[in-house]
Amino acid sequence: MDYQTLLLTIKDRIAVITINRPDKLNALNAQCKSEMKDLFINLKTNNEVDAVVLTGAGEKAFVAGTDIGELTSLNAKTGEEFSANGIANLDLIQHLGKPVIAAVNGYALGGGCELAMACHIRIASENAKFGQPEVNLGTFPGYGGTQRLPRLIGHGRAMEMILTGNQIDANEAYRIGLVNKIVPLADLLSTAETMARSIISKGQPAVRLALKAINATLEKSLSDGLKYEAELWGECCDTEDFKEGTKAFIEKRKPTFKGK
Ligand code: COA
Repeated sequence: MDYQTLLLTIKDRIAVITINRPDKLNALNAQCKSEMKDLFINLKTNNEVDAVVLTGAGEKAFVAGTDIGELTSLNAKTGEEFSANGIANLDLIQHLGKPVIAAVNGYALGGGCELAMACHIRIASENAKFGQPEVNLGTFPGYGGTQRLPRLIGHGRAMEMILTGNQIDANEAYRIGLVNKIVPLADLLSTAETMARSIISKGQPAVRLALKAINATLEKSLSDGLKYEAELWGECCDTEDFKEGTKAFIEKRKPTFKGK
């Protein structure tokens, strides 16, 4: 895998992806989006990876949005395709089947905020800033922001962020539930990796089934979601890790999970 706009390291079953266009505040251009799509398709079936950490290069930005230079010539038809492709790319992350942690190291604006929201967990550095500033450009979020932001922080707050285009800082993002944790910038990657390691140490079938069940809350009614939970929970009972985890508790020892 050879990418121009992404850096990738895989160590101890954790893939760390760094979006690497720091001179453009890691704005997502066509090449970057295409490389991310290719990489996430690969990671989905990569048996050497159980968790992913996603961050941006430099100390200023996670991702300052989609590349505005690529928006100027869009029309109704190409614009709809542009948005649909962006949404499909971010859906790949949400449905990766492995936890993806966004380590937000600065500006997460527009498509950057939407990218962070497609990840399963968000950890922010103290200097992080979040916003959906598209209204300032005469448009609105088109990579899932109008759908994911209200689900994460509630309808009213999402309305305010999207309609005013105002940015919020890491403390406010934490207060309203947009991020899970705030840490100093110097500790950001290690904190995300520690969390990924902790998740990896659990029974992986359970982690994957939990991801599926929680993702379903975004699409199903409560009663359908509860039925789906029971279905997946039953599936989990057939896994070796479930037998091992429960047996180990009874035998007062640490479980040895096999990921099966
Ligand atoms: N698309 C394309 N280029 C971008 C970009 C974006 N979304 N965000 C930043 N850049 C580029 C700038 O054009 C500049 O490039 P240059 O050095 O070739 O002129 C470089 O990144 C640095 O950005 P700059 O604006 O000089 O940094 P700043 O510290 O003054 O401001 C921001 C930082 C994030 C406030 C400002 O860059 C910004 O508002 N970016 C756009 C955010 C946005 O609207 N995102 C949603 C897009 S749909």
